Amino acid sequence: MDWTDAIKDERLSEGKGKMVNLGSKILMIVKIEGAIHATEGLCKHMKWPLSWGGKFEDGCVTCPLHQTTHRISDGELVRWAPFPLFPPYGKLVGSLVKERNLGIYETRVKDGFVQVLI
Ligand code: FES
Repeated sequence: MDWTDAIKDERLSEGKGKMVNLGSKILMIVKIEGAIHATEGLCKHMKWPLSWGGKFEDGCVTCPLHQTTHRISDGELVRWAPFPLFPPYGKLVGSLVKERNLGIYETRVKDGFVQVLI
């Protein structure tokens, strides 16, 4: 594994995710309460890019499509595809994909760049 430049630190705003491609991986970089996190960029449910409308709240990211929610610090699954509740389309579509945690990556800032250990 190596540290890889992902994005200039100055391009990040608090609570706004940015998608980056690093080799064959698509990641999301986000600053939450001053800490910079890197996660897999695509929702584990149906691969929606999480920074495109994802909601950042209480240390979690919620996908705008079916509201799957993961904790950003460790990627732990909080809710799996509950939306919409009625008709129960979310639960039906959610059941087609195995529940999974979101992958996370270690980050650091060096020479003005957010780097990801990948
Ligand atoms: S694609 Fe993200 S919750 Fe369904």
